[in-house]
Amino acid sequence: MIHKMQVHELKDYESLCERVVKHVLSYSEEKIAKHGRFTIALAGGSTPKGVYALMASEEYRNQFDWEKIHFFWGDERWVPSGHSRRNDCMATETLFAKVDIPAVNIHAFKVINANIELSADAYEKEIMRHFEIKENEIPRFDLILLGLGQDGHIASLFPNSEALHEKRRLVVSVFHERTSEHRITFTFPVLNRAESLFVMVSGSEKAKVLKKVLEAGDEHMLLPAQELKVNSGEVLWFVDRAAAELLS
Ligand code: 6PG
Repeated sequence: MIHKMQVHELKDYESLCERVVKHVLSYSEEKIAKHGRFTIALAGGSTPKGVYALMASEEYRNQFDWEKIHFFWGDERWVPSGHSRRNDCMATETLFAKVDIPAVNIHAFKVINANIELSADAYEKEIMRHFEIKENEIPRFDLILLGLGQDGHIASLFPNSEALHEKRRLVVSVFHERTSEHRITFTFPVLNRAESLFVMVSGSEKAKVLKKVLEAGDEHMLLPAQELKVNSGEVLWFVDRAAAELLS
């Protein structure tokens, strides 16, 4: 298992966003030059907001080849389309509403007959169509963006969840105890097959969990984020000084 982990420590959140955008841009250029398209899965929550806003800014928006970039999500909250808690709404507000991206390039989770299992299956089939793969094959995303929860979760893979052990399905539904919210999430087979994972961590409230994830051995129960081990790609951590304050 080739596991290359690199930690980029930036002085503050703005610098973290700038560094992430520069990496996403150069990565997208490399993949589009090689394969004619770039497929990225976005993270939800608050940390990525500055990244998406910067991608849509005067400074960057004309550098991205939007026609050739396909957007998925690594997870979504089980609330109706258009609901403010949805991760795709946040991305629409910060990014998609400001740049010219073909609607077909935006692959959002759809709520199907108010049935979360049907929606998870439908998303799995959309991923398989996009990557032209069959049952039991795992897609290889060029890039998956992730945040880090204070409990060590990534996407909606929470500690002690059955979903952590899913080996076959690409997308599953989970129940988030703390927020009593149902969610849909990529599984580890998808995350760990990605060419590249960018994990963005900002703020002193994440310092304790970041230290545990990056420095603790496996002497105790692993946190979900410690299971990120891309097979033949890279895991890049983008952390600001506040989040890194406890790192050795
Ligand atoms: C979500 C995200 C989730 C998030 C972490 C960190 O749907 O909320 O996918 O995994 O990345 O909870 O959230 P913050 O960036 O808001 O700290």
